Amino acid sequence: NQRRPLIAGNWKMNGLAKSAGNELLELVKLVRDHKAPNCDILICPPATLVREMAKLAEDNAVDIGGQDCHAAENGAHTGDISAEMLKDAGAGYCIVGHSERRADHGETNAAVKAKAEAALRANMIAVVCVGETLDEREADKTLDVISDQVKNSLPEGATAANTVIAYEPVWAIGTGKTPTPLDVAVVHAHIRSELGSLMNDSDQVRLLYGGSVKGSNAEELMAVENVDGALVGGASLKAADFWPIVATS
Ligand code: G3H
Repeated sequence: NQRRPLIAGNWKMNGLAKSAGNELLELVKLVRDHKAPNCDILICPPATLVREMAKLAEDNAVDIGGQDCHAAENGAHTGDISAEMLKDAGAGYCIVGHSERRADHGETNAAVKAKAEAALRANMIAVVCVGETLDEREADKTLDVISDQVKNSLPEGATAANTVIAYEPVWAIGTGKTPTPLDVAVVHAHIRSELGSLMNDSDQVRLLYGGSVKGSNAEELMAVENVDGALVGGASLKAADFWPIVATS
């Protein structure tokens, strides 16, 4: 397997310029001091900080990404931000379809697909999120839900170079609960197999696990077959918490 791991931090709605800048610089320093780790490192700050964080990470020790984008390139969409704007501000990636967007903003698979296509159009890498709720897991519907989300959220023209899939069980996000390594393995194998019928280089697509990843469980989760990195929320806010996760790669 030639998949280069991707350890991604999603800061969600957290961060003001000064403290966020300090954390980013601290992370860049850790990356430099430890030479190039064997993975790509991504931080997705709030949109207000993308340009500033991209400047601070100028040497590309850390990539910067958006957390969401509008499907259109521009227009009368008050409060929204286009993929082109994020790219212009220095983002190389964009998360789309995070469960908080799906739940809080009613984003459907079709909407997520359109956003992912916008990210590709702007020459960014789309990080497409999928994941089941607790009710769905308990009703034994996990794999059906994941299939539906993967098939219907994947952008047209997806390749291993421009698309990453993040599996985040909704019940594991911010709760301290994680699925067992076996549960993760089953879902990731399922996603890889679904991708097989949707794209040519499915074996090279990076599949991230997300949901309560922290320094103490990262090694076990990252060792699971078909897990090619992590999408980290809470533990990405401080460089000192994020670094041990990066260092598992
Ligand atoms: O995008 C990140 C995920 O929602 C995970 O968040 O690490 O705080 O559970 P968490």
